[in-house]
Amino acid sequence: MDNFLKISKDQFNDDPSTVKFYFELDQRKRSGFVVKKDQKYFVYLNECQHLDVELDWQENDFFEEEKKYIVCATHGAIYEPDSGLCIAGPCQGAYLKKIAYTENDNNIIINLGV
Ligand code: FES
Repeated sequence: MDNFLKISKDQFNDDPSTVKFYFELDQRKRSGFVVKKDQKYFVYLNECQHLDVELDWQENDFFEEEKKYIVCATHGAIYEPDSGLCIAGPCQGAYLKKIAYTENDNNIIINLGV
C-alpha cells in the first residue's frame, strides 16, 4: 500500500536548506530529508553509505559550513546534494538512497513505500 507524506515548500527557510522527516519502514523507525538547492528538490533516506547511521548529528543539520555539500557527522563523508554521490570519505563512489517523490507548486509529496 502506498504511503505518502506531504512537505510544504514553505518549510524551507533558505536555498540551500533541508527538511528532515520520519517514517516507518519494515517496522523500523527511519528518517529521510529533502534538500532544496538552486530551487530544485531532492529526497534521500537519512542513512550514510558507510555505516547504518543517520547523517545529521544535530537535528536537520546536514550541510557543511559552506553549504555546498551534505556531510556525514560520524566520519565526515561528503555527498553532492543534487546527485547524492559520495565524493570523499570512506564510502566514496556510493550514492545516498533516493526516495521517490512528486511535487506541485506548494508541496513535495514523498512516497514512503521507498
Ligand atoms: S558513517 Fe558516515 S562516513 Fe562513516
